[in-house]
Amino acid sequence: MTTLTHHEQQTTQDVLQLNGTDYIEFYVGNARQASYFYRMAMGFSLVAYAGPETGRRERASYVLQQGKIRFVLTTPLKPDNEVAEHIHLHGDGVRDVALWVDDARLAWKEATRRGARSVQEPCEIADEHGSVKMAAIAIYGDTIHTFVERKNYHGAFLPGYKAKAEDTLARPTGLLHVDHVVGNVGWNEMNRWVDFYASVMGFSLYQHFDDKDISTEYSALMSKVMANGNGRVKFPLNEPAEGRRKSQIEEYLEFHHGPGVQHIALASDDILHTVSRLQKQGIEFLRVPHSYYAALQARTGRIDEPVEELEKLGILVDRDDEGYMLQIFTRPVEDRPTLFFEIIQRKGSRSFGKGNFKALFEAIEREQGERGNL
Ligand code: FE2
Repeated sequence: MTTLTHHEQQTTQDVLQLNGTDYIEFYVGNARQASYFYRMAMGFSLVAYAGPETGRRERASYVLQQGKIRFVLTTPLKPDNEVAEHIHLHGDGVRDVALWVDDARLAWKEATRRGARSVQEPCEIADEHGSVKMAAIAIYGDTIHTFVERKNYHGAFLPGYKAKAEDTLARPTGLLHVDHVVGNVGWNEMNRWVDFYASVMGFSLYQHFDDKDISTEYSALMSKVMANGNGRVKFPLNEPAEGRRKSQIEEYLEFHHGPGVQHIALASDDILHTVSRLQKQGIEFLRVPHSYYAALQARTGRIDEPVEELEKLGILVDRDDEGYMLQIFTRPVEDRPTLFFEIIQRKGSRSFGKGNFKALFEAIEREQGERGNL
């Protein structure tokens, strides 16, 4: 086995042949209302729907799209239902990080042969627009990966969904694609899930931080990033680390009742535009103090964006040996301090903003303190 170093992409065979993220499905208490948030604040368009009007009796789903990002908001219509149970336990959050594959049966067969637990055996569904093959496996907590093979399908989303006419409510913000999806797992569970992504999914270690890099006075975490062979799918994994006070990962695990998706990073190619639109449309972001910007250029060197503009919007910058990246984090998007979003623009850098962790964690802890959870 190759020694793992910074950014090294191992040449392991890409056994599951993932093309990228297909969709991310959220189980929510009220999908109709949540869809307004994602359309009018985050800038997504409603493109498809399935529910009682389309013959589905137990759940309703709204499919939202912006650039290549596809979110599905699903709500239960009855109490004794898997969706309702998920929401009861975890609150609104991510159920499925679905992966686009060329061969869903092969991906499922390889993953389960290597030890993944099956959630859905390969099946084929069809309507007048063609057919889709799907299968699913379990990952951390109650989260799953559905494998979606859609080369023979030309409809709006999946068979059974009805396409929606152009969305006149959507206020686009320039979000383009999913950059990475971060999972929080329990104490001492990170390496177990790193092994899962390596041995079951054929991913390799992208880079890692240890608790010395990213501990603040009070709390800490450990993080490793797993990536698939073509680098299109990146899953950082966090576990809590020992600190003087309760870490943000512990707070998440407590309120989410177990492991789950912590944040989804969405890419823009004009972060100044995207973040100013999002702020105008009501999205709240974490803020770092003025001192962060006073020290910025000494740390990052020359950057294209005016520092005053970055400070006005609260955007963070980090540089590595390949270039730099700009990023900003929303406050949690539910009442529970669980899921949040990151907006990211990469200018050469392929890393995840290690240089910002300290400033950021201090901002997170200020809010954690306000919630009485430190
Ligand atoms: Fe991130």
